[in-house]
Formats: sequence, structure tokens, C-alpha cells
Amino acid sequence: MEPILEVRNLSKRYKEKDVLHNINMKVFKGDIYGFIGPNGAGKTTTIKTILGLLKPSAGEVYIDGKNILNDKENNPSSIGAMIDYPSFYPNLSGYKNLMLYANVLDLSNKRVNEILELVQLAKDKNKKVSNYSMGMKQRLAVARAFLTKPKIAILDEPTNGLDPEGVKDMRELIKDLAKDNNTTFIYCSHILNEVQNLCNRVAMINKGNIIVEDSMDNLLNTNKEAYSIISEEKEKLRHILGSMVLKMSDIENGISVEINKGEFKLINKLILDNHIEVSGMSKNSNSLEDYFMRHLSL
Ligand SMILES: Nc1ncnc2c1ncn2[C@@H]1O[C@H](COP(=O)(O)OP(=O)(O)O)[C@@H](O)[C@H]1O
Ligand SMILES: [Mg+2]
Repeated sequence: MEPILEVRNLSKRYKEKDVLHNINMKVFKGDIYGFIGPNGAGKTTTIKTILGLLKPSAGEVYIDGKNILNDKENNPSSIGAMIDYPSFYPNLSGYKNLMLYANVLDLSNKRVNEILELVQLAKDKNKKVSNYSMGMKQRLAVARAFLTKPKIAILDEPTNGLDPEGVKDMRELIKDLAKDNNTTFIYCSHILNEVQNLCNRVAMINKGNIIVEDSMDNLLNTNKEAYSIISEEKEKLRHILGSMVLKMSDIENGISVEINKGEFKLINKLILDNHIEVSGMSKNSNSLEDYFMRHLSL
């Protein structure tokens, strides 16, 4: 399958500082693509380059196989974006703020009302933005990004400044928008948990390097699981379980094993049948955060 968006060998240098090193990314139609990494990793710089707001030092960006950075007639309505903290005219209503954009883009007030409905701001549309909560401002920013019904929507840290309830609402909104509009999403965040709950594919960036790009299923190894077994009879455990497990490693007070999902019963039976004394057994967590921590330390 051809990617809808592809970034090839993108680098960016600010004066003395290399900020992006040879970034490669492939986003496919219908993806909710998580772009994650700590603050300062280079997410916003990458996004601004994709949007043509920054000139890369090297590299290309393709949409539907077309190099858009070289294409002067590139149609910006194919990408909708919100970057950094949203800024609006505080003394105008949410509706009027969107109408300003709609006028520039030659869109009707019907579309503005439709999108306000979609982001659940219809009943607050005539309130001044200065009276909006952070969550409402973020939703208004999502609405602005969606005005043109873009093929690709890029949301840069859309949950910044939101409380847990607001974060949940934003996640639901993105899921709804992804379903209804057949839009491809790029979702930038430094909060791994958010990405894990939302995205089907992920790229991790650290210090301007892509560490990994893969499907969430592969990253989280959903067909495998790991257990820590606490026992003083390590040698015996190793001997008995050796041929049964995918991987085995030493931990303090015991061993850790990786097995195919569903094989725990077999392991447990072997331990019991061989009368190995075990003082504790726990399932290791398998989160994006674990993965990230393992790979950051490389
Ligand atoms: N205009 C600029 N001039 C120099 N350095 C910059 C500029 N903008 C960003 N940077 C640096 O580039 C790096 C990546 O920043 P950014 O892309 O904003 O990261 P992220 O969005 O992942 O938090 C940071 O070290 C930041 O300080
Ligand atoms: Mg950023």
C-alpha cells in the first residue's frame, strides 16, 4: 500500500544545532498515527516542516506520492493542523473566530455550524472565546483544523492544559472524527498513555532521531506476555522452563519469562508438578512507556 504521507530523510539544522536527523515516516490512509517523544524531541519542528512553515535543511515530504515541498501549487486544504497552543481573538465568539477562517477559505457558515456541532461547541458558539475553558479552546482549534474536511489532520499536543476529563473528551472526539470523516490523523504527544489508547501506528522520536516506527500491536507485542517469578530455586526453574518459554532473564530474587499469550497455565503446571517453591508471581506490564524506557536507555 502506498502511504498517504511520507517523510523522507528529513533534516533540520538551526544555526549550530541539529534538531532533526534524517527523519523517515510513513503514514497510511485511515491511520491514527501517534508521533511521540519527550519535550524538545523535534515533533513540532517535523510538523512545521511537513506543513511548509519551515524549510528543511534536507529531505522531502510526499502526499499521495507527490513531493509537496517542491510543489508551488500544493493545495494546503489537504492538510488541516493545529500546532502548539491555539490562539483566537478572545473578544470574538467561537463562531465568529471560525467564520474569519471560513471567509478566507471561501467556506459557508453552514460548514462552520456543522463543525461546531461535531466538536460539541454548538451551544456555546456565541460565547466569547475569552470565556471558553481550555478544553473548549482546544476543541475550537480542532474545529478550525477540520473546516476544510482535510484528508490529513495533524494535531500537535491537543490535550495540553486539559484536565483528565478534558483529555478523555478529546480522545473520544478524535475517535469520532476518525470514524465519521475518513480522515487520517497524525497525533503528536509527549504523553505515551494517550497515544497507546488512541493510535494504531506509532513513531517515537528522541533528540531528533526516529527510534522506531511500527504498528501499536507489534510494539506492544500483544501476542506475548511476560511474568516475573520469585523463587530461591532459580536453577531448577531455568532447567524446567527453559524449553517452554520464548525468553528468560535473571531478575532479583527470581527469573522473568516471556511466553506466548495463553501459555501461563502450562508454565504454572510445570512449576507445581516439579514442586518448585515460588513465593510470588506477577505479570509484567506491557505499555508503550515500558517500550520507550527500554529504548531510550540504548
Ligand atoms: N526557532 C528555533 N531556533 C533554534 N532552536 C529551535 C527553534 N525551534 C525549536 N528549536 C529547538 O529544536 C528542538 C526541537 O523542538 P520542538 O520541535 O519544538 O520539540 P517538541 O515539539 O518535540 O517538543 C528543541 O531543542 C528546541 O529547543
Ligand atoms: Mg512541540
